[in-house]
Amino acid sequence: MSENELPFSNGNFALLEQALRKHYGADLSGYKYSFLQRRLEIALKRLRCKDVEELIQLVIADEAKARLLFSILTINVSSFFRNPDVFQFIDTHVLPEIFRVVQSGTINILSGGCSTGEETYSLAAMIAESFSQEISRVNIVGIDLDPLNIEKAEKGLYPPESAGDIPLKYKKFFSISPEGLQVDPALRKITSFKTTNIVDLKPENPFHMVIVRNVLIFLQRAYQSRILAHVLSIAATPAFLVLGKVESVPRELAHFFKPLSLRHRVYRIIKEKG
Ligand SMILES: C[S@@+](CC[C@H](N)C(=O)[O-])C[C@H]1O[C@@H](n2cnc3c(N)ncnc32)[C@H](O)[C@@H]1O
Repeated sequence: MSENELPFSNGNFALLEQALRKHYGADLSGYKYSFLQRRLEIALKRLRCKDVEELIQLVIADEAKARLLFSILTINVSSFFRNPDVFQFIDTHVLPEIFRVVQSGTINILSGGCSTGEETYSLAAMIAESFSQEISRVNIVGIDLDPLNIEKAEKGLYPPESAGDIPLKYKKFFSISPEGLQVDPALRKITSFKTTNIVDLKPENPFHMVIVRNVLIFLQRAYQSRILAHVLSIAATPAFLVLGKVESVPRELAHFFKPLSLRHRVYRIIKEKG
């Protein structure tokens, strides 16, 4: 089956997609159908539905279940400092250049498809540690399609065991309370979150770094290009793109994203076609 084919020949999946969109405003249009089919099988089991028709009824009748279904369908696994070598590369090769070139004014960073916020707060902690003198001019925006993820990100509260993913030098930006692992107010001050599709984001100011990790891999190729074309349109000069370890820039857009480190999937964004 190709990535664009419907998983069910009777088109039930398309009906489910429409119901989610109509009753909940959820947008699954960019996802690979092969991926959604696998997630749908998990959703049927978790929501104890015998078939897609029953799921559609559930979505129409119960908004909380619709939200849960959307979360199951759009995988949202994340962790603090995921792929630590990438964070280290950003810290030593990307951020110093941005701070050197952008001598005054705000430095804008986008964490696109941020899930529950671990990536966004990891960036904030790294910048607070390495560029403490400049922290007041940093603005990090985390966005995600799923409002449930954004609600969690805004709380900044995580299970205590997630502390194990945080390198020693950044632990001071997090505290353990009876409720769990709490993000320091200093990090929350420079971060904000918003529920939106990346392609719909219309920022007030362009971004100097856009991190979209482990998002494109689930999406159809045409949609990956749509997202990266939008990233190009909201990028500042200079600006950098960071993708997930197994993701890459589609060939037709390669001249706009020049690899800085292919190993770390870090690219320099070139706004003018050379
Ligand atoms: C697997 S998580 C990755 C989280 C984080 N970037 C990381 O690497 O740890 C992918 C997230 O991307 C979000 N997502 C998928 N398509 C999106 C889009 N078009 N715009 C915004 N968020 C999207 C999903 O809701 C999900 O939370």
